[in-house]
Amino acid sequence: MNIKGKVAVITGAAGGIGRATAMELANRQVGSLALVDKTEAVHELAREINQLHGRTMAAGYTGDVTEETFRSWVYRDLYEKHGIVNICIPAAGITRDGLSVKIDKQTDSVVIYPGKTFRLVTEVNLIAPVYWALELVAGIADYRHKNGLKRWNHTEGLQGTIIFIGSVSSQGNKGQLSYSATKAGLEGAASTLMAEAIYHGVRCGVIHPGFTDTPMVRALGEDYIEQNIIPQTQLRRLIQPEEIADAICFMISNSAVSGSLWADAGWRPAA
Ligand SMILES: NC(=O)c1ccc[n+]([C@@H]2O[C@H](COP(=O)([O-])OP(=O)(O)OC[C@H]3O[C@@H](n4cnc5c(N)ncnc54)[C@H](O)[C@@H]3O)[C@@H](O)[C@H]2O)c1
Repeated sequence: MNIKGKVAVITGAAGGIGRATAMELANRQVGSLALVDKTEAVHELAREINQLHGRTMAAGYTGDVTEETFRSWVYRDLYEKHGIVNICIPAAGITRDGLSVKIDKQTDSVVIYPGKTFRLVTEVNLIAPVYWALELVAGIADYRHKNGLKRWNHTEGLQGTIIFIGSVSSQGNKGQLSYSATKAGLEGAASTLMAEAIYHGVRCGVIHPGFTDTPMVRALGEDYIEQNIIPQTQLRRLIQPEEIADAICFMISNSAVSGSLWADAGWRPAA
């Protein structure tokens, strides 16, 4: 799928991976770019991209990705201004790390990871990405239906691509019960969507980044990174967000690539 001229949505666009992906899509001459995040920083990023490329290609949208009304408004606004959305990279994500079951030293009692926290992580990391993706599929399905088009044929060219952001933690990581479960969940959603949405000419894949140099990972602290991440990463460094952005664009533009791509810098955690 040629990125040039397409309409793309990136959530979590103010974060490390989202921002780098926005920059890379702009470099590859995407037509229009919706930069979605809960922070206002997306407006500054949009200005930066537009200035760099000398045209208004990017626009910021501030809101919560878990809110349905916000999601449908962004898609409606994009459709009215630029037409059908072809690329969706729902990258907004959070971590709420904690052991599944632990003995609380202060109260001297057993504590279970809070269900409320698990549900929050699921809303942001699993349900929201899937629904941002479904909104893309719905837009394309609706357009094709209204134009009398039925089952998509490969000679038409791909209509849309969705890339979910999984994680190496999807294979399990101590202290990341909710996070790893949501990232593994994206695998099932992507496989199902790949099978269903291709009827409308939409493909779907998952990239599983290893530990990448973004605010999410920096929040773990330098000591944690040096002691627990670098020694278990064969490249002996954090991945740069630009490397993930490049891999995402590769997945979008090479339609033969399906399923998952592991961009993990050789992450091999000890048992
Ligand atoms: N950094 C890594 O090592 C790494 C590794 C594997 C996967 N990932 C995944 O990549 C994605 C991007 O991560 P990152 O490292 O760039 O993180 P980041 O913290 O730098 O960026 C995440 C962005 O998502 C936004 N966000 C969070 N909740 C939101 C909500 N409810 N509504 C709107 N925006 C919201 C935040 O404001 C932030 O800008 C996440 O899904 C993350 O799980 C990151």
